[in-house]
Amino acid sequence: MLLGIPLVIGRNVKGDGFALRDACPHRGMPLSEGVFDGHNVECPYHGWVFEGKTGQCQAIPSLTARDKLKVERVFATSFPCDERDGYFWVYIPDPEQRNEKAPPAPRLPRLRPRLLSGTMPECFPYESVATSFWQQILSALRLAERYVPLGPLDLYEVADGMHAEVLGSLVDGYGDVRFHASNGAIGSFLETVPLLHPLGSLVSHDLFVTDLAQYGCGFRGPGKYDGSVVNWVNGPLLQALAGRRGFHVEFSPFDHASRSPIATARARARD
Ligand code: FES
Repeated sequence: MLLGIPLVIGRNVKGDGFALRDACPHRGMPLSEGVFDGHNVECPYHGWVFEGKTGQCQAIPSLTARDKLKVERVFATSFPCDERDGYFWVYIPDPEQRNEKAPPAPRLPRLRPRLLSGTMPECFPYESVATSFWQQILSALRLAERYVPLGPLDLYEVADGMHAEVLGSLVDGYGDVRFHASNGAIGSFLETVPLLHPLGSLVSHDLFVTDLAQYGCGFRGPGKYDGSVVNWVNGPLLQALAGRRGFHVEFSPFDHASRSPIATARARARD
């Protein structure tokens, strides 16, 4: 729904996005309930078929040889649609100016190039060149992991007034689990939750590990990818620490991209 107009949005086999009013021009049935074959959308009611990009009718199954209706003159309402920055941008023209040309889709502001290849494209024309640059730098520096003993966990402070003995009870039963814990990140989370209104919640979208077993069956960082540090946030650790301060944290799939590794965390004061 955009500006009160129901839309059906799709992408055809050529990769072009399209947007049609989600109402068949015949009897108004929602086209989104119909069938899309990669080119055309077929209305679920009487089977009229419309090309996705232009909305032009391609077939009306009930027509006989005696019918005079010109199928190609029937159109479902279509709107200019452009895909940019991972979003479909649909332009709804002013009803008074139906033939107005759609302006180009806006560019989303970028605070910085996402990858090294975006920073200096003349030196790093491909992502693979940038990745190999970092590999060479790291091997030239001879960086190696160093493990530093923390000492007794019940004395080591992970955050102000909170000792690390919580880690021991957390990882019990998970075997050899290793993860990165940032005192800075834990501290800032624990300083933020008490600011919540008693009925409010803190919502955060990130790469969360939501079950410690995930550390044992796939990469969860820390690691470096083309200059970016990839590190999943230890959700169960946040749950355990927040729990000690009287807050409840729960995780759910990220609504806007449910197949991505992103998860949504909601923290709120415990009842
Ligand atoms: S309502 Fe769509 S074909 Fe009749």
